[in-house]
Amino acid sequence: MTPGTHRVPPVWAVVPAAGVGRRMATRIPKQYLPLLGHPVIRWSVESLLAESRVVGGVVALGADDHWWHSWTPPHGKTLYCVIGGAARADSVLEALRCLRRNMARPGDWVLVHDAVRPCLTTAALTRLLDQGLSHAHGALLAIPVRDTLKRSAADATVAETTSRDSLWQAQTPQLFPLGLLLDALEAARDAGGQVTDEAQAMELAGYAPLLVEGESTNVKITRPGDLPLAESILRARHHRQED
Ligand code: C5P
Repeated sequence: MTPGTHRVPPVWAVVPAAGVGRRMATRIPKQYLPLLGHPVIRWSVESLLAESRVVGGVVALGADDHWWHSWTPPHGKTLYCVIGGAARADSVLEALRCLRRNMARPGDWVLVHDAVRPCLTTAALTRLLDQGLSHAHGALLAIPVRDTLKRSAADATVAETTSRDSLWQAQTPQLFPLGLLLDALEAARDAGGQVTDEAQAMELAGYAPLLVEGESTNVKITRPGDLPLAESILRARHHRQED
């Protein structure tokens, strides 16, 4: 290696898409709902594959998924498909094992991103990679909590106000060394606990991932009103690019 240059480690996209999304109450799983001419999942996957440091990816699908249609990913990058599991963490584990079977090394990095976050910007992804790849325990996009937080009582009245100091809302993508994340997810599963994101598995394994400031437009499509919101975010971005 010549002085002043450093090797960029391979980064793989991992997109868990095996959820059913009951809160959307639609016949089609939310990751396949149409959004400006493409299914939601395609926006999410392509936002990762468009980044030059991402060498390929894997999508974890439900066992009875009738909706997935592959497309030619940009720049000749390979996109693998694998059957996911009962919980999100199981789907991510299957995806990581698929990468290991297909030449990824433990020292490669993975960017785990919800199939239902179609509005990730290049700027936020670049920030995550720029800061996260030099942090040995990995990193995640998150936004500092801005609103006052209330804890509710059983009857939906306020039980107490909770301090928002040092609180962040975790988003995806989340970026980790493949081998560390694989071990952390396996350990969390063996311990019998439910982890709701990859960072939590890393925390349980004793690591401290870096929080990198994300954007509030990186919405997760969960409820019916979220789809028109995503549509207006993408439209506004498109119009700005045309100006
Ligand atoms: O259900 P939730 O909104 O938390 O799901 C976040 C992401 O995890 C979605 O992209 C969903 O498809 C995925 N998931 C999965 N396997 C599961 C459950 C959720 O891949 N068993």
